[in-house]
This record gives sequence, C-alpha cells and structure tokens, in this order.
Amino acid sequence: SRVRVSCSTVVIGLGGDSGCGKRTFVRRLASVLGDGAAPPRGGNPESNTLVGDTATVICLDDYHSLDRPARKARGLTALDPRANDFDLMYEQVKAIKEGRAVEKPVYNHVTGLLDAPELVVPPKILVIDGLHPMYDERVRDLLDFSIYLDISDEVKFAWKIQRDMAERGQSLGSITASIEARKPDFDAYIDPQKQYADAVIEVLPTKLIPDEEEVDQLAGLLIMKEDVKHFAPVYLFDEGSTINWIPCGRKLSCSYPGIRFAYGFGTYFGHEVSVLEMDGQFDRLEELLYVETHLSNLSTKFYGEATQQMLSHADFPGSNNGTGLFQTILGFKIRDLYEQIVAERDAVAADAVKA
Ligand code: ADP
Ligand code: G6P
Repeated sequence: SRVRVSCSTVVIGLGGDSGCGKRTFVRRLASVLGDGAAPPRGGNPESNTLVGDTATVICLDDYHSLDRPARKARGLTALDPRANDFDLMYEQVKAIKEGRAVEKPVYNHVTGLLDAPELVVPPKILVIDGLHPMYDERVRDLLDFSIYLDISDEVKFAWKIQRDMAERGQSLGSITASIEARKPDFDAYIDPQKQYADAVIEVLPTKLIPDEEEVDQLAGLLIMKEDVKHFAPVYLFDEGSTINWIPCGRKLSCSYPGIRFAYGFGTYFGHEVSVLEMDGQFDRLEELLYVETHLSNLSTKFYGEATQQMLSHADFPGSNNGTGLFQTILGFKIRDLYEQIVAERDAVAADAVKA
C-alpha cells in the first residue's frame, strides 16, 4: 500500500508528544548506528538538527508556519495543523528521499521565532522527529518505517513535572495548566497518528502494584505490526504463542514489586500486531543479559548487544525498564531495515549491470 519513490535515503518517522522521549530515542539510535549525532557544524546554535555519519535527525517543529507570537495572537497551539506547513514538509522530505539537498527552515525554541534556513544534505537515514510525522498522508507515504511513543497521561504528567519543576523552575499550577491547554489538540491531532505507526511503545503505570497510581515504576508495551516490509517482530520464547514470564526468583535479583514479561498477539486499530510487555524494572541492569537470551529476532549483531547498549547508556532516562529496552530494540530494527533496503538496492543494481 506504500508508494515507493526511487529512493536513496531511508526515511523514518518518530512521533509523539513533546517530553515523551523522542530525543532520548534518537540518542539510543545514534549509538546503535555508531553515529555521533551532533548539531550541524558552523550552523545556527539553535538548530534542532542532528547530523551523524549514517543518520540525520530533523525536528518537525522547524515546519511551524506560525511562530510563537503568531500562535499566541491566533490562539493556536503548536499541535494545531494550522500552525504547521505540511506542503513544505512534504516537498522537503520527498526531495531528501530522492537525493536532493534542501534549505530547511529553523524554528528557534528559545525565541519562538523562525531563523534563517539551514542546508540539509541527503543522509543514508533521515529521521523526522516531532509532533506530526504521520499526520499528512503524503508525508506518511514517504516513510519506510514509523514509530509512535504513546505515553499515558499519568506518566507524561509525572515526567513533565519532574523536568519542568526541577530544571525550568515552573510551578505545579502552571505545568498543569499548560498540559490541560494542550490536551484537546493532542487528542485531536497527535494521538490519532499512532494507528499508522509500524511500531508503538506504550508506557503506563505499573500493574504490579494493585490499586495504586504508581508512576515511579512503569509498564512498557512494544506493539509491532505484522507484515511490515523489512521488519520482523521480536518475540519471547515461542513465536505466535502467549507467554507470561516472571524471571524473578533464583534467576534475577528483583526487589518488590518484581518484573513481569508478557508476549502475545492481537489487533491494534484493525491491524494484526504482536505485543511484548515488560512491567517493572531491573535492580541490576547487567541481568538484562538473562532476559536478552530469551528474546528472538532482536536484529543484534552479536550475543549481548542489547544489554551492552543499555549498559553503556545507563544514564539515559528509562534505562532500567521497558521504555529504554524497547527503544534500543527499535534502534536495532531500524539498522536492520536500512541494511536490508541497501542490500536489495545493490542486488537490483547488480542485475541491471548483468542485463
Ligand atoms: P522529547 O524529545 O519527546 O521532547 P526527551 O527525550 O527530550 O523527549 O525527554 C524529555 C524528558 O522526559 C526527559 O528529560 C525525562 O525527564 C523524561 N523522560 C523521557 N523518557 C523517559 C523515560 N523513559 N523514563 C523516565 N523519564 C523519561
Ligand atoms: C514546540 C514544541 C511544542 C510546544 C511549543 C511551545 O513547538 O514541540 O510541543 O508546545 O514548542 O509552544 P508555545 O506556543 O508555548 O511557544
């Protein structure tokens, strides 16, 4: 069902609300790719772009057509499609996918204004990260793979409070008010995009502690669509079965409330999916190796690579629970998808030479 443009750049969509872990995901992906994703050299210090040897990440806030004062004046949030230029987003993502460099606008998050554009040259992998990677059908059709980070309200709220109170000195009241103000537009324009994602990481409060809105411990679900080209869903023990697994006891040193894994299948917005779940967190992250041994189709290149990635970024948020594990796994999946597409392209080119 996907329109394939003759492509040189592989395009990945990464969507979700702000403060839901998209940039953290990007850092994990860069590490898996062996990329030092850094801001463009000599450019605008407020650039939102990250450039590595393999992947370039652009932030879709750069396609805000209304700057902060214009949004204020018209009473629109940044989530409203009317505040964003989807024609330009489509044209530029398409151009990059076809191998042409573009002059992309730069939204300055400090001033809230649009700065002078910056040059984006076609990378091997382009990640479009933001609020609306799957909103516009034309942009959606350019994506080779798409991910949505679906963080439940309770958890999002806890993360925002933690960040905005601690780091930005905002009051609880102003944080609550800004979340409430965004909610209708989030529900209308952002959340519905998850139906189009090839993989969704859903994050909820733990279910291991009954009758409590416990957000210190989290449950993560990795929802993976079946029949996506170049993407083989990960499974636990036995593909296509339903598994409930509590590895705590003699194997893992889990403290209360422990860790539970589950694996199974179902439907998600009418699509066949498999689902891997991890509820709870590791006391000792190196014990992830035991869990990794029981997961298949991870697309790792050597035994223990997932655990190694997680250990080397233990300081990133979510490294001791399913949020970090599933981000890391999707990083491997993107690397694998890219390598498959390149191998296919090389095979086609070799055939053309023979013919
Ligand atoms: P985004 O790019 O979507 O705005 P970030 O990756 O920058 O999100 O994360 C924003 C903040 O949200 C982090 O600084 C952290 O406080 C919190 N956060 C993100 N992911 C997690 C996680 N998995 N566990 C705990 N906190 C997280
Ligand atoms: C960016 C973020 C939005 C955020 C906005 C601030 O665009 O991606 O999530 O809401 O900045 O907008 P404001 O209108 O409050 O300046």
